[in-house]
Amino acid sequence: GTTATGGATGGGYPDKNITFVVPFSAGGPTDTVTRMIAEPMAAKLGGKIVVQNVEGAGGTVGAGEVARADPDGYTVLMHHIGMSTAPALYQNLDYKPLEDFQMVGLVTEVPMTVVARKDFAPKTLQELVAHVKANADKVTLANAGIGAASHLCGLLFQTAAGVKVQEVPYEGTGPALTDLVGGQVDFMCDQTTNTSGQISAGEVKAYAVTTPERVKSLPDLPTTTEAGLPQLQVSVWHGLYVPKATPPDVVQKLTEALKVALADQKVIDQMAKLGTAPVPAESATPEAHRAKLQEQIGTWGKVIADAGVKAS
Ligand code: MLT
Repeated sequence: GTTATGGATGGGYPDKNITFVVPFSAGGPTDTVTRMIAEPMAAKLGGKIVVQNVEGAGGTVGAGEVARADPDGYTVLMHHIGMSTAPALYQNLDYKPLEDFQMVGLVTEVPMTVVARKDFAPKTLQELVAHVKANADKVTLANAGIGAASHLCGLLFQTAAGVKVQEVPYEGTGPALTDLVGGQVDFMCDQTTNTSGQISAGEVKAYAVTTPERVKSLPDLPTTTEAGLPQLQVSVWHGLYVPKATPPDVVQKLTEALKVALADQKVIDQMAKLGTAPVPAESATPEAHRAKLQEQIGTWGKVIADAGVKAS
């Protein structure tokens, strides 16, 4: 039986639950953004959306599963910048981003924050760089696995600082942040959609935000440029994907529902509170999404090759 709710749409789709796959743990930034838009998208589609976390290998396990799912519109992937770094990091990646997926549209571009456990000695980004240089073999850096946004930001930090530290991979930065608050790991680079609450609560130390401008919801946090590390600039763009052969009219319904969700005042307010915003309507299209992914694969391919980093 169907669990359709909300307004009817043309054609039969959807006539059963739609699964949104999040390739990282529940409670992390990717999961948070997905759950924000799932509700208004379900209302517009007139169906139910179920979020499923499929963790592992920096998001590549979940992405691979969606690449091979039935192309019927009932399996959708939420993924981010990691879609553009994986090809350079994994020799035998079991999917080709530009060939195995149909893009639905971009969602949001999220700033990252450099944060540490609250009793970590360095007080500023410059002191953090100095501390890491002097104690490289003892400092631990959390991330969500090779290919995660937190991994890429950590890579950029280590390249800028000219040092290699011990990386501690998690299935998502939700659990990583829990360990950071608990003092089990030293520092991390993670999205404002995950760290804002703990920064405001003083549960972690925050050094900088990785965007050219400060984040309105974290007004006291300097940018990496202000803090003397201008090379550390990255923001985490997110998009929705379906398997390549998904029928165009189904893709169109998903894109329309995405646009409605990104114009939803509740979504706009939730994103603003967490340091981000929906992309403009013209970016919530398959064409804009494909162009972004194509450009980002080139950009990060070079950075990763220069840094000489490869996954197992
Ligand atoms: C990442 O670091 O790539 C993700 O933001 C991790 C997550 O969403 O849990």
